[in-house]
Amino acid sequence: MSKKTIEQKWDAKHYDERIGYVSQLGVGLVELLAPQSGERILDLGCGTGDLAQQIAQRGAVCVGTDYSADMIEKARDKYPDLSFRVGDAERFRLEEGEEPYDAVFSNAALHWMKRPEAVIESVGLALRPGGRFVAEFGGSGNVGAIIEALTNELDRIGVDWKARFPWYFPSVGEYAPLLEKGGFEVRYAELYDRPTPLGSGEDGLNNWLLAFAGSLLSGIDSDTQREIAVNCAAALKPKLYRGGEWIADYRRLRITAKKK
Ligand code: BEZ
Repeated sequence: MSKKTIEQKWDAKHYDERIGYVSQLGVGLVELLAPQSGERILDLGCGTGDLAQQIAQRGAVCVGTDYSADMIEKARDKYPDLSFRVGDAERFRLEEGEEPYDAVFSNAALHWMKRPEAVIESVGLALRPGGRFVAEFGGSGNVGAIIEALTNELDRIGVDWKARFPWYFPSVGEYAPLLEKGGFEVRYAELYDRPTPLGSGEDGLNNWLLAFAGSLLSGIDSDTQREIAVNCAAALKPKLYRGGEWIADYRRLRITAKKK
């Protein structure tokens, strides 16, 4: 989660109550990170802190950072023993006297950051030599059907959505060279389909739009927003609604890289 985009608002309560699958589906990435006792690990785009907590439970010292003050406030409430900071991952820097990290971890956040070179620079400066970067985020083609339905609706009402498109979904071929240019050795990179159940039955798609499509819908009156949501649901139902549940067409880019 959690980089600024025009009017993208983060509601930590909605996020935890209706979009909890984001953290639940990140548990496998914590396995890949394999936190070791005593390691210092930075969670970039930590949201409300659930995965930072899992990393800390393995004995690592985990610091979480997120662009959204609302998310960080909720993370501090939930996990008062952990350390959380509000911050912009495109400009993250170690604090005065702070030791570099053994690993930087990021789940479902980097697709909100439209300056990947700046993020990679931040990660490189945060890590010790030999430190690892383990991340997963939306990759090329991610939520393609949802984007098509939504942008068709925005075209219909004459909204210039290209200017406010909030996401960065690269391919392996685009992202791996950026890591290499940024001083990393890429150890693993995979783009994979991860059909994602949105929970909440019929309401799942609407909850997703409310949580994530704010910058595309901002400035549109609420009746028209509702009409857009209804039309998107009608267009997407044959493709993404199965057995009483919405299954979003997520595609993830998963990488591990080592700082040289
Ligand atoms: C994702 O996690 O893939 C995602 C989340 C929100 C908007 C778009 C994609």
